[in-house]
Amino acid sequence: MPAIQTTDPEIYAAILAEQKRQSEGMELIASENYQSPAVLAVQSSVFANKYSEGFPGKRYYWWQENTDIIEQLAIDRAKKIFHADHANVQALSGAAANLCVYSALMNPGDTVLWMDLSHGGHLTHGAPVTFFSKIFNFIRYKTTAEGKIDWEQVRALAREHKPKIILAGFSAYPRELEYEKFVEIANEVWAVAFADMSHIGGFIAAGVLKNPLDYGFHVMMTTTHKSLRGPRGALILSKGIVSNPLKKPEDTIENIPTRIDRAVFPGMQWGPHMNTICAIAVALKEVESPEFKAYAEQALKNAQVLASELVTRNYKLVTGGTDNHMVIIDFSWTEIDGSVAEKTLDKIGISTSKSTIPDDPNPPFRPSGLRIWLPAMTTRGVKEDDVKKIVAFMDEALKNKDNEEVLSELKNKVKDFCKNFPVPGL
Ligand SMILES: Cc1ncc(COP(=O)(O)O)c(C=O)c1O
Repeated sequence: MPAIQTTDPEIYAAILAEQKRQSEGMELIASENYQSPAVLAVQSSVFANKYSEGFPGKRYYWWQENTDIIEQLAIDRAKKIFHADHANVQALSGAAANLCVYSALMNPGDTVLWMDLSHGGHLTHGAPVTFFSKIFNFIRYKTTAEGKIDWEQVRALAREHKPKIILAGFSAYPRELEYEKFVEIANEVWAVAFADMSHIGGFIAAGVLKNPLDYGFHVMMTTTHKSLRGPRGALILSKGIVSNPLKKPEDTIENIPTRIDRAVFPGMQWGPHMNTICAIAVALKEVESPEFKAYAEQALKNAQVLASELVTRNYKLVTGGTDNHMVIIDFSWTEIDGSVAEKTLDKIGISTSKSTIPDDPNPPFRPSGLRIWLPAMTTRGVKEDDVKKIVAFMDEALKNKDNEEVLSELKNKVKDFCKNFPVPGL
């Protein structure tokens, strides 16, 4: 970045400070990860200069011979990796992608069945604070007391409300999903089964977690920047013409891929970010490498050690453990809450995120849970024994939350620990 050093020293200083923060601190926020130097580099390639409205082979502006190559590569790689018939790689983020899917498949007033926010659903699935909730009707299902999906409730709500979309997918649910049950209910009420796999897309890509499209889901979305380790963006993946034998002809959902492409462009977005699409293509190439598979397998092993070490130290976990990568600590029975835990760990250089627990009695800014994951630290090379050390740091900090001296010593220890695990490219 030689030019910016002299032309914009304030921005340059902030970039250096952020590099330092990312190197010295430990990233356990569920959703963050590190992009490879190649993925980062292509985002500032000349594709950032180009307008390319439309899709490969059918654009509104001229001189698309190179943009067509990169977008087609991104599409082909996404289809192959996720076993999809169609991939749209243009949505600018997970939130935008979800809105595109809703607008592709529904009319204003239609209903989506989604998981309650405090039970693990995401705001963009229809929380009352979103703009989406003014357009569509969102009905929520919940988990049982054990924290597993309440199938009786999902089925009863589906029969009662006849949703157009049944949405599976979460930002705080630590268990593998029984996709076939969602599909069975969706088929019964003629709904589209839509999976938002934003967090675990990378693990599905690596084949270490189940792929909803293999279980009959019609549409799947994943962000590209979490476990997938790509740039900030999203993939909307779908199966071809949906022919559901139960449907009456007038209810049959036509070609979902075409509807999705039209909803993204020109329905919701205009010029695609070709530099990001280029980086998505590069990230997907990396996904096909043995190194990526090894990372995904290690991340899941690390998650198991994280959960068991926490339980051994008497922490209570939502659902008692994890099948995927996500661990949610439940502090509701203790004197602290997720926000206090988050602030305490931040003081020793460990980033985490507060989280709700099912039917959380506390307000959103002081929820009872803390959400953690290890994919980012796995990218930096941590293995099972290192995870035990991470849990020991966390435990000691939480037990000494008001002792600034202990916290400051721990901060130095975390900094030393992180030196063994450099951030890719730094
Ligand atoms: C399940 C889920 N869907 C959608 C999103 C939104 O993605 P983005 O931040 O790219 O808009 C998130 C973000 O954390 C998420 O967890």
